Amino acid sequence: VVPARHAAANPLRQPRLAPRSAAPAGRRSLVTKAVKVADHTEARQYIDTRHHAHIHNHREYEEMYKRSIEDPNDFWREIAMSNFHWETPIPEQHHSHNFDVKKGPISTEWFKGGRTNIAYNCLDRHVKEGHGAQPCFLFEGNDPGRDGVVTYEEVLKEVCRVSNWLWSVGVKKGDSVAIYMPMVCELPIAMLACARIGAVHSVVFGGFSSDALASRIEDCKARVLITCNAVKRGTKSIVLKKIADQGCDIAKQQGFTVEHCLVYANEDATSKEATNMVAGRDIFWQDAIPKQADEAEVEWMDSEDTLFFLYTSGSTGKPKGVVHTTGGFMVYAATTCKYTFAMQPGDVYWCTADCGWITGHSYLAYGPLLNRATQVVFEGVPTHPDAGRCWQVVEKYQVKQFYTAPTAIRSLMRSGEEWVRKHDRSSLRVLGSVGEPINPEAWRWYHEVVGEGRCPIVDTWWQTETAGHMITNLPAAWPEKPGSASLPFFGVKPVIVDEKGNELEGECEGYLCIKQSWPSNIRTVYGDHERYETTYFAAFPGYYFSGDGARRDKDGYYWITGRVDDVINVSGHRIGTAEVESALVAHPQCAEAAVVGYEHPVKGQGIWAYVTLLEGVEYDDKLKKELVMSVREQIGAFAAPDVIHWAPGMPKTRSGKIMRRVLRKIAAFEEDQLGDTSTLADPGVVQQLLELRGK
Ligand code: PRX
Repeated sequence: VVPARHAAANPLRQPRLAPRSAAPAGRRSLVTKAVKVADHTEARQYIDTRHHAHIHNHREYEEMYKRSIEDPNDFWREIAMSNFHWETPIPEQHHSHNFDVKKGPISTEWFKGGRTNIAYNCLDRHVKEGHGAQPCFLFEGNDPGRDGVVTYEEVLKEVCRVSNWLWSVGVKKGDSVAIYMPMVCELPIAMLACARIGAVHSVVFGGFSSDALASRIEDCKARVLITCNAVKRGTKSIVLKKIADQGCDIAKQQGFTVEHCLVYANEDATSKEATNMVAGRDIFWQDAIPKQADEAEVEWMDSEDTLFFLYTSGSTGKPKGVVHTTGGFMVYAATTCKYTFAMQPGDVYWCTADCGWITGHSYLAYGPLLNRATQVVFEGVPTHPDAGRCWQVVEKYQVKQFYTAPTAIRSLMRSGEEWVRKHDRSSLRVLGSVGEPINPEAWRWYHEVVGEGRCPIVDTWWQTETAGHMITNLPAAWPEKPGSASLPFFGVKPVIVDEKGNELEGECEGYLCIKQSWPSNIRTVYGDHERYETTYFAAFPGYYFSGDGARRDKDGYYWITGRVDDVINVSGHRIGTAEVESALVAHPQCAEAAVVGYEHPVKGQGIWAYVTLLEGVEYDDKLKKELVMSVREQIGAFAAPDVIHWAPGMPKTRSGKIMRRVLRKIAAFEEDQLGDTSTLADPGVVQQLLELRGK
């Protein structure tokens, strides 16, 4: 089954699920290339990594995997009870789930009845065991030379102070707190402080605009916002506080008031004096937090109490608040982190992701701390002040595990090998990739140039909704194939189904679903359980549907072929085409917009926007800029279209539906493969669009 060619029979096309087209988003060619050049990289060659890995070969994995699937209740309980502190032990029978709407509401429970606290497990536990002096965060600022070390004990004390401040302004268990910060240590500290007192954090990526911030604040009803005055990224300064203020104003206009705003003063970017502070609402972190006591009560949480909301884009409508709960998230994030990165306590680990995305939640704020790693927190960008920055930092801190996105690898690859070779990388043991398919060229460069062929590459496939690695190779456990995430993690049962929802066996291609619950599967969409059921469980009853297509090869390896819905993946950032379209249509002169993804050499996918203007409006470059600006203002700079393609007419069927397949082909310069266009209301539109391409 090839989803692209069977789009007509695609169940996703049923309006109830995804009213817009649901053909694959054009990622297939990268993967096809991967298949052609794929070879095996033998696991045996990774001598140093094998020494530290927790799983040494495929047989060990198979035994453990089998048990995890056959008896998930006991498998996960044993891991949970032996590796974490539970104030109230987990009952023998703690797991239940229903993934089938026909049997009743979709629901999941893990470790229910057990009480724990994730922040306690990240910090107090290690300090009590005598590791308080171990470095927890190695802060590396935007500019080289601005750095610092904080120990586990120091982080614990700061977390307690922030918890006490949150208490002092009335935040209680179950209340939402919005966090809008750049990558400074205070960001994970703020998250941990919320978790300590049972407040639900909702981190909003610092690249989002004031509109996007406002809608997230309102949706989760966060009366407290933790932010920062400004940040330097590369040579640019961004006054985050201004955007935060605007966000609060927009929320207020909609009738929702942010009552308290804690502002971390980032003196590197701007002074306190230059920061606009709203009397009665705003206070600087540096003024409020040091006054607080450095010990704080722990709120013991039921395993199924909510830990956080994280908004993510889907095919339709506004972003969804993905809900994750305490125990399942803790156990799964920590366990995947340990096995996938062959992590041992004390390892120096570096994940370049931002805490504004799920990767920063699972594999920065929580997973590594639960494993007592020492981790680099990097404020800057990989190319500042030069393309050697990552490797200079790896050498400086002797990083063992490095985790980044293919887009970063591709951009560094373009700058040339000399930047890598300048720095010693002999400390590296595991190289990780996340967020999008990694093309074989980038894979090889990462493997040969960065890792000198010594380090396995863990290509980790997962999602905001899964909260942890789902399909990934484990370091040095079995041969790698460049471009394939390989095999499922413990407890994960992937299946590939055809358009009717039939499970396919052996070598096949189709829709990637997961058959049974794992500890950190998404519990609900905040405030909209029906949307949760419709989005993830209605397309293929009985399964969690990922939204991705995948292929399984003769060795059972999975190859992700990309999204099959209207979500595009730009530099590893997930963007709903519908969101970009509504930001474009918000421009007063825009009549209609249709957005598709296209293959981009660095970003993976770029955003190609077809725009129809109102009758009589002249199509000119000034308007193109305004349209791009409209998207930057409503979503953020990372979602700005790369191409605005004037479209006086859209290719529509007689029933008025835009044929996105045609738009994708034009953006991909594959007009020779348009397929059947006989159902178009006006076939002449295609020629017109081809003539306007690049104009
Ligand atoms: O399409 C898949 C792609 O990223 C999507 C999830 O995006 P998000 O929720 O923002 O989480 C990103 C970080 C986990 C998936 O549906 N994706 C993620 N990792 C990979 C990937 N595609 C291919 N290979 C991967 N390793």
